[in-house]
Order: sequence, then structure tokens, then C-alpha cells
Amino acid sequence: MPNAKIESASPASISRAARLLAEGDLVGVPTETVYGLAANATDPAAVRKIFAAKNRPPNNPLILHVASPQAALAWTDFDDLPELKARWRIATQFWPGPLTCVVPKAACVIDEITSGAPTVAIRVPSHPVMQTLLAECGFPLAAPSANPSNYVSPTTAEHVVTMLGDSVAMVLDGGPCEFGLESSIIRLTESGVDLLRPGGISAERLEAAFGHLNLAQAGKNDNSSEAVMPAPGMMSKHYSPRTPLCRLSNWNRNTHPASVVARICFGPAEPIANESFRWTHCISKDGELGEVARGLYAAMRAADENGCELIVIDECPPEGIGRAIMDRIARAE
Ligand code: TXA
Ligand code: MG
Repeated sequence: MPNAKIESASPASISRAARLLAEGDLVGVPTETVYGLAANATDPAAVRKIFAAKNRPPNNPLILHVASPQAALAWTDFDDLPELKARWRIATQFWPGPLTCVVPKAACVIDEITSGAPTVAIRVPSHPVMQTLLAECGFPLAAPSANPSNYVSPTTAEHVVTMLGDSVAMVLDGGPCEFGLESSIIRLTESGVDLLRPGGISAERLEAAFGHLNLAQAGKNDNSSEAVMPAPGMMSKHYSPRTPLCRLSNWNRNTHPASVVARICFGPAEPIANESFRWTHCISKDGELGEVARGLYAAMRAADENGCELIVIDECPPEGIGRAIMDRIARAE
């Protein structure tokens, strides 16, 4: 049944969303990566609602979404940081698009966004609905992925209302997300560029643009709960379905017989001798990794709904888009 809070994106519904956001409400918004849970980023009370709705730890800062690289500048502070400023110019070539930059913040960025850190994460999304919404709002939008903390991100408007329907005033439906996993996050400093989270822009493209990319921060497991998290999504349990998950090569048939296992394949399901799974889902009929990224979270959700004790999932080489896919699988394991 269609949910009354979901509104197809149109000039009228986008204007309504902008009004609700200006009044301090939360709105589910489409982006090219995943759906976001948006609030007016200049309104501390509205931003606090995001943390309450997601049950998000207060030390996990939010991404600021703005309409253009020009608009982003107002929220940064590059004084006396010429190398960093040069790296920023390179980074802006990827905007609008699925790249988030962590940079020193301007004084006007409220602590509710940064969890008190001296840096702010900024991104210019390319989804046309989000672009129009940001232009109408005239203020930046704080928007984490629209899921309860630690669950997989939503890639359709329906996913948002299923999980957070009570917290949002409306969800703008901009169709299924084009990329399906979250943005890449890089931290720009005077000394270099660190990849904090692999995502929509591949590490190879970033490396080519910047000359060098420090990968050491990406994929670390750190359950720190004290200070601001050193890097995003670094909790060992993150982006997880509720059902335990393991990759095919880690599957121990003695602890979990196939009769209680759900199988997620990237391409056509290769039969496994003497094994018959309770439920099998193939994300892409020919194993195309763009389609796998787009469908990964929806497949994990579907597996959660079928009552199995374990999800066994395919693997791919951690290159290009495969790096983001395997990063999310590692965090769900
Ligand atoms: O694709 C995306 O980035 C989506 C869409 C909605 O834009 N947003 C998203 O937000 O994935 P979220 O909150 O689920 O993930 C943002 C990550 C968090 O892990 C957070 O720790 C990190 O960004 N982050 C935010 N500000 C930071 C900062 N100043 N320093 C380091 N990490 C930061
Ligand atoms: Mg998230």
C-alpha cells in the first residue's frame, strides 16, 4: 500500500519539502548514493532530531550537503593552508557527485553537525531532486543515510518510511538510487589526502586526480565511543543486516547447514555440491558490479525478511567499485 508520507518529486512537493525543512522538520531525500534523512543544517534543534530518530551516537558527525562548490566555501576555513586549498580545488572537480570532503570548518558550522570536531564533512550531491531542493532551501542540509544507526542504508523511498516513517514529515521520492552505496569520503590536509570511506568515486580515480591517496584510514575497525570518531563508518559493525552475514569463502558448513542459510549471489548462482539453500537471490544476472552496488542493500533487506539464520554472500576483487562493495560486506560480517 502506498504510504501517505511518500510524495513523488515535483515542483510542488519539492517546495513543500523546503518549507517543512525551514520549519525544523525532518524530510527523507533522494541522492545519487542512498536516501538521506535531512534537516536544516543551521538549526541546532532540527539537527538534534536526526540523532534521536536514528539513535545515532552523538560523537558521529554529519555530512553537510550544499548546492555547489561555491556554496560549500562558506562552511570551510582554509586560512594559511595553501596546499589544502589546492587539494580542495581538485576535489571540487568531482562535484556534483558522490564524494564527501572532510576539511577545516568555518566558525558558522554548528557543533551539532561536527560533534565538536574542528573539521566538517561536505558534499554536493548530483541528484536533480536534491539539487532543486537545496536551491529552494537556501540553507545547507545535514543528511546522514536515512536508516537506524548501524542498519543498511535505504535506496528507495519505501525503505525510508519502513524504518523511519514516524520521524519524518515527508519523504521525497526521486526513484531508486543510481549508485546504491554511500559516497566516498576523503580527508584533505596540508600533507595529503586520506581515503576514509570507499564509495561512489573509486580510489583509482581519486589517486589519479590527487597524485597520491593514503588508503591506511579506510577499512580500519575501531569501536571508539569516546571522542569524535577518528574516521567515518569505522565501527567494526556498520552497514549491517540484522541476520549474521559471512562471505562464501568464510562459510563454515558445520556450524550453519544450508537449510537455514540465505545465499546472495552477485551473478548467476553457481551450484554448490550437496548444498541446497533455503533462499537464493542473484543481484545481477551477469555479475555487473554497478548493478551489484545498486542492489546490495536491498538484497540484504530481503534476506532479513526471510527468517534465515545466516546470509552467505559472494565476493569480488576490491578494485574500482568492488572496493566499496567489499568494504560494506566486511563491515557487515
Ligand atoms: O552518500 C552519502 O554520503 C550519504 C548521503 C545521504 O549523502 N550520507 C551518509 O551519511 O552516508 P552518514 O552519516 O551515514 O555517513 C557519513 C559519515 C559518518 O560515518 C561520519 O562519521 C563521517 O561521515 N563524518 C562526518 N563528518 C566527519 C568529520 N568531520 N570527520 C570525519 N568523519 C566525518
Ligand atoms: Mg550511514
